[in-house]
Amino acid sequence: MMDDTDPFLSLDPQGADWDRLRATGHHLLDMMFDNLRDIREQPVWQPLPTDIRSGFRDAPVPDHGMDIAAFGEAFREQVLPYSVGNRHPGFMGWVHGGGTPVGMLAEMLAAGLNANLGGRDHAPVEVERMVIRWAATLMGFPDTASGLFVTGSSIANFIAVIVASRSAEDGLSLREHGVGRRSLVGYAARSAHGCVSRAFDLAGLGSDALRLVPLDGSFRMDTAALRTMIAADRKAGLEPFLVVGTAGTVDVGAIDSLNTIAKIASEEKLWFHVDGAFGAMAALSPDFRKALSGLEKADSLAFDFHKWAQVPYDAGCVIVRDPARHAAAFAQTLSYLSREDRGVAAGAPWFCDLGPDLSRGFRALKVWATLSVYGTDQLGRMVDHCCAVARHLASRVSSEPALELMAPVTLDIVCFRLLDPALTDEQLDHLNGEVVKDVQESGLAVPSTTRVNGRLVIRAAIVNHRTMAADVDRMVDAVLSLAAKRRSGLSA
Ligand SMILES: Cc1ncc(COP(=O)(O)O)c(C=O)c1O
Repeated sequence: MMDDTDPFLSLDPQGADWDRLRATGHHLLDMMFDNLRDIREQPVWQPLPTDIRSGFRDAPVPDHGMDIAAFGEAFREQVLPYSVGNRHPGFMGWVHGGGTPVGMLAEMLAAGLNANLGGRDHAPVEVERMVIRWAATLMGFPDTASGLFVTGSSIANFIAVIVASRSAEDGLSLREHGVGRRSLVGYAARSAHGCVSRAFDLAGLGSDALRLVPLDGSFRMDTAALRTMIAADRKAGLEPFLVVGTAGTVDVGAIDSLNTIAKIASEEKLWFHVDGAFGAMAALSPDFRKALSGLEKADSLAFDFHKWAQVPYDAGCVIVRDPARHAAAFAQTLSYLSREDRGVAAGAPWFCDLGPDLSRGFRALKVWATLSVYGTDQLGRMVDHCCAVARHLASRVSSEPALELMAPVTLDIVCFRLLDPALTDEQLDHLNGEVVKDVQESGLAVPSTTRVNGRLVIRAAIVNHRTMAADVDRMVDAVLSLAAKRRSGLSA
């Protein structure tokens, strides 16, 4: 006879254990609030101590459980101080959003609800549809556009490449027969993020099928070269199907001429996709929205809420203007996933019809919470502020004889470089790279590096709502003093 009353059968607490769990939960929540409130007092980043690292690497699979309070303590000691640092105002590396306490709470609510948004008929699915509609409206797309939340822009761009290729002439046959002997080719500027060429690779088109268009003098796609390349490829018997414009290039934050690309795409009958990973969020600001003109003409758009919109990781999004094309690229009929006219299995189309994932979490909740609690007006002011801090940094760089600004500042990215007439370009590359590591290890700031016109540069992306002018000044001071220290060490 089966005994269902054994308290250990459930993973939930029993009786008074709920009170202990509640007390621990409140304590952990307070710990995170305190930690966020005092974030400025911590180093931006510090290396993980060797003993903690080897503890993770050597830890056996736990066969006996531990108290949640002890687990919380392990997190506080071993993880909390050693994260990448993107919540800190001194973090300016790569393109990392800072997160918010509101997003943190929403993540907790989503985990508590434990909803699966692959499909079916429930409120979380309607929330995701609502937030997709808001996003479409913000970006100037019709509110009938379809879309879904994904991990990030890498996957959002991949989904767009899939939809675009299946929207090409006879493209739906790719679903059963693969690419075969077809030579579908697409175009993006040389400055496009690496995930676009990876999307071509993953889609089975091959990364060579993404033609890289040269840049003009403003780090934007040379659209005359685009026309020439399309014509040459057609002449060679290839099948151009897609052009990708970038709104906010990862290296310098440039915005391709989206109107011109839209015109070329329409004349050439190509799918027009925009990678707006972080830059599309400039749409939140009435001042910067103009710079995105043409984005609203795109057939599809990839962007992230986890970057400039400050939603905690991860929250990428893809929007497709034509819902039928979107669904045609992914929809599948499986008997165990049959869609019904009523009951839990109603509500078609399901999100699993719009991308590769079946099971999906409730990412939309933290985006809903962020947009609702802050409103687009406050988020727009935050975007303006980040751009103002970037301009402040650019003018500080220009005022320092030992530094050189390496690209114009369009949005929130500043690229600069230490100068030294006594050093060759290669030696300067090395110096700049080493000084960035010195600054990171100092815990004062975290810039990163990239290459501009072939030269290694220091790159600061002001994507964190907590970053102020004083923080970028502190970063520049650190660059200058650690460079001086390195030079005196070398000459000593
Ligand atoms: C322009 C651009 N596209 C795509 C990506 C990839 O986005 P994710 O990291 O969310 O996958 C990035 C990341 O920084 C980016 O800047």
